[in-house]
Amino acid sequence: MNLAEFIEGRRDAHLAELCELLRIPSVSAKSEHKADIERGARWVADNLRAAGFKSVEIVPTNLHPLVYAESLDAPGKPTVLFYGHYDVQPAEPMDLWTSPAFEPTVRQGNLYGRGTADDKGQVHIHLKAFESLQKVHGRLPINVKVLIEGEEEVGSVSLWDYVQRNKAKLQADALVVSDTSMLAKGVPSITYGLRGLNYDEVELTGPAHDLHSGVYGGAVPNPLAILSELFGKLHDKNFRIAVPGFYDGVAKVSSAERKALNALPWKRKDFEKAVGAPGYFGERGFSIVEQLWIRPTLELNGIWGGYTGEGAKTVIPSKAFAKFSTRLVPNQDPKKIAKLVEKHIRKLLPKAVHCKFEVLSTGKPWVAPFHAPIFKKAQTALEKGFGKKAVFIREGGSIPFVTQMHDTFKVPCVLIGFGLPDENAHAPDEHIALENYFGGIKAIAHFYEDLASL
Ligand code: BES
Ligand code: MN
Ligand code: MN
Repeated sequence: MNLAEFIEGRRDAHLAELCELLRIPSVSAKSEHKADIERGARWVADNLRAAGFKSVEIVPTNLHPLVYAESLDAPGKPTVLFYGHYDVQPAEPMDLWTSPAFEPTVRQGNLYGRGTADDKGQVHIHLKAFESLQKVHGRLPINVKVLIEGEEEVGSVSLWDYVQRNKAKLQADALVVSDTSMLAKGVPSITYGLRGLNYDEVELTGPAHDLHSGVYGGAVPNPLAILSELFGKLHDKNFRIAVPGFYDGVAKVSSAERKALNALPWKRKDFEKAVGAPGYFGERGFSIVEQLWIRPTLELNGIWGGYTGEGAKTVIPSKAFAKFSTRLVPNQDPKKIAKLVEKHIRKLLPKAVHCKFEVLSTGKPWVAPFHAPIFKKAQTALEKGFGKKAVFIREGGSIPFVTQMHDTFKVPCVLIGFGLPDENAHAPDEHIALENYFGGIKAIAHFYEDLASL
């Protein structure tokens, strides 16, 4: 039986198996899910063994285990390192899901559930491609190292540590990742740039304890009001970030590249449908694609404090909190940016509040040329799976490990995304299009098969 027929014949089995993985609520951000995270790691390890990997290990770390496997039985052939993550974002708010987050459900050609697109569904595409190659050919046509972590959604701290201690072991000719999106349905895409990020938290303290807002209001600093005002001052009227020096490191994007990015079959209509806001704005002087992929941002992710429960409570809170993030582009240095932002915030705040500033996680931006021969192979493989030539895109999300790998090993990083921009990653009703999942297995199996001739 040939590879394509084998894969076609296993559709139902593949989908049923993915659903098993999706039922494990491996939420990395919450300690109550520790046992589920461990179950997730075991599931991935067992699945790699079933796919024919003889060397599989679950590596304990300071936080969540990572899974490493290798198959090095193709002497003289290229070696790829495949990276993905089995952890997922919290699924709350649960009541906004049409079907429960951890009970995968098919509706109208999509599979719904937390992790379907980010990243379990995409990892499973590769696991099934490896398995199909092993079952059809009796062995893998190339050398493969597999690294699936459980901390991507909380900053990949243990992974970085592991890479530092295992450089020789992880050495490969290329890194392959599926944790990104296609530009649009039916437009297979290879991502050559990601934004970096700093994820920050501020805590303001005014009065030493909560106060009656009638007895004290009018004569004391309210940290919540001060925090709200602060965030009103961090952008100017052109929606540029008002932190001095923030743009200093930003590398100029050539006009040829800007032209190529703006000529992609990206549709404003699809973007607006995916967002669903009554209106839109972003940094002046840049197209939306540019605002999303090649420009840095500062976004407020959460702000809280005081009383938000039922009914009224007239209180001036002692403390106010905010979580916010800066998305960074080449060649902004996350450490420098964190310092600039902290300094500016401290300068804007009145003496009447105390400010605690903390960087919770960080990752460098990434952009790389895509002329190595492996990119042509990826394009050809995607054409086999989707009947269309792949385009090269940049994206706004962050995968800190990609930059770390690229900096450490200086090898091509091939990011083949099977998600879609409107698939609600990190939100309720996350889903993956079944045509991308099944087409992905086909494309990736051909990709690995074809790499043998590199
Ligand atoms: N898979 C995403 C990153 C992504 C999504 C890249 C879409 C390109 C397109 C990843 O799981 C993720 O969510 N990363 C976090 C960063 C992390 C340090 C918390 C992000 O981008 O917010
Ligand atoms: Mn991801
Ligand atoms: Mn994610």
